[in-house]
Amino acid sequence: MCGIIGYIGRKEKTLPVLIEGLKALEYRGYDSAGIAYQKNNKINIIKAVGRISNLEEKITPQDSTLGIGHTRWATHGKPSIKNSHPHQAGDITLVHNGIIENYVELKQTLSEKGYQFHTETDTEVAAVFIDYCYQSAKNMISALKKAQKRLKGSYAFGIINHKEPNVIYAMKKESPLVLGKTENELFLASDPLAISSHTKEICYLKEGSIAKLENNKVTLFEEKEITPTWTTLNIEDSKADKNGYEHYMLKEIYEQPKVIENTIKPYLTENGTQNIPDLHKYHKIQIVACGSAYHTGLVGKYIIEKFANIPVEVEIASEYRYKKVFYDKKTLVIVVSQSGETADTLASLRKANQDGIDTLAIVNVITSTIAREAKYILPVKAGTEIAVATTKAYLAQLSMFSLIAFELALKNNLLSEKETEDILYSYQTLPKQIKNLLKNINVKEISEKVYKHNDIFFLGRGIDYSICTEASLKLKEISYIHSEAYAAGELKHGTISLIEENTPVFSLITDKDIYEKTISNIKEVKARGANSIAIITKELDEESDYYDEKIIVPNTHTLLQPILNIIPFQLLSYEIAKLRGCDIDKPKNLAKSVTVE
Ligand code: M6R
Repeated sequence: MCGIIGYIGRKEKTLPVLIEGLKALEYRGYDSAGIAYQKNNKINIIKAVGRISNLEEKITPQDSTLGIGHTRWATHGKPSIKNSHPHQAGDITLVHNGIIENYVELKQTLSEKGYQFHTETDTEVAAVFIDYCYQSAKNMISALKKAQKRLKGSYAFGIINHKEPNVIYAMKKESPLVLGKTENELFLASDPLAISSHTKEICYLKEGSIAKLENNKVTLFEEKEITPTWTTLNIEDSKADKNGYEHYMLKEIYEQPKVIENTIKPYLTENGTQNIPDLHKYHKIQIVACGSAYHTGLVGKYIIEKFANIPVEVEIASEYRYKKVFYDKKTLVIVVSQSGETADTLASLRKANQDGIDTLAIVNVITSTIAREAKYILPVKAGTEIAVATTKAYLAQLSMFSLIAFELALKNNLLSEKETEDILYSYQTLPKQIKNLLKNINVKEISEKVYKHNDIFFLGRGIDYSICTEASLKLKEISYIHSEAYAAGELKHGTISLIEENTPVFSLITDKDIYEKTISNIKEVKARGANSIAIITKELDEESDYYDEKIIVPNTHTLLQPILNIIPFQLLSYEIAKLRGCDIDKPKNLAKSVTVE
């Protein structure tokens, strides 16, 4: 993953711009960080393992007119000072986001030529190779063009050549990279948000571009030299702030009533839906995404099939991009992504685009690559999500799928007037219901009872199972407890052997048509000693012996019910992780935006 930044401009600003930019990019990885800055014709490098704050502690104010910086999510080589960027070789110092896939072969070739390597990274090989190209070409643009031909994989580079002290070079393939400018300054960054407090004048680099930044001027090379296209970034500066909450995750959970209101409002009228592209011409939908976004697709499938009667396939993007896919002009490919930069999701989108298939992106970051490259876009209004574990963006994506299902059901004349009214009323009351649920729910006692366990299970059937997949991921990623989501009827085909005395089993029971079946499955685990915790809708609540504890969720229309159902699980994961003393907003080994495959 990783995030990179570069700056040429005012001498007192260079280090602060780099640090501020890296903080904004920290969601891309936080294993280590580093900067290189130019002072008195010398390149100085500072690195630190862990957070940007660790790097910041090592930096004293310095005058410098040029620098590059990096925040790392380790792929090749463990997090260490040695493996941290910037990497240096000969005249070259660089930062890199991406993976050089043929680094082993290049390393071998370069070693035979006498080059030495000091790290375990693929990036060092790129630095050495670019230096090697430069030493023969003696011209950076020719050297970078030559390097481009040999380097395989993905990259966004910020590069300094010691012999050209006032220049930064940038080069991009598959990893995101933007340039920015003001009258006297030039910037590069993995994400425009990292520089948006300084400039809104942005140039998105195309695949295969090389840029030279110097003297308030950008020279851009694609096939040949071209004039850069600058666009104005249409976003407001949003300062990250916990607003009194202990963690961003908790703040973001409590923002959900507003997020849902903001997301659904532009698409609803008194009688139905508006502003949604005409989708009923498609005979099949494929939903492609990763992680939690994939889990929203599972819910999307269920409700689109149920309400709109259109077949839906849901695919994990890292699989979809490499497999044989069956689609045609009557297929719509929907990609779902909070960040809009997830490498596998982006590659899947590009695959469909290249095959001439219509694509639609459900995306939170509207400046992202996915938002720019999809044929249609349905933005969700979650706002900036800081916590690595998604909550409000996931909920907003669920609401977007409900709108798509609603729109398609209306267009296909599948809803009676009464049901349409019920759904519209449910949308209207939904933000208030979320607010009340958040106000009244108490998950502390249950969390205290289960937080020391090493295995936790989540059971549900149908759409409840889809929610369980997300509940389980949420718990795993922030509390580091092993957990599994199971279709309730499937557990007895093997996994039930893991149920022991007191194993916590959370069951989601909200579907009236099959709840009795789920209850039978819960009894099976309870008979084997499980501690059964039911999350159940008000309508289905009854005094019974199949649970030891229960949490009640209010009812809404079935189309919207999943939006309420996930909330107790978000809070449970949060409380359990807190009791275990975990780093909730930045869980170990993770990054918010996964820009490598
Ligand atoms: O930005 P995206 O929505 O494309 O990200 C996809 C996943 O990486 C993401 O949902 C991940 O699973 C989250 N950490 C889950 O909380």
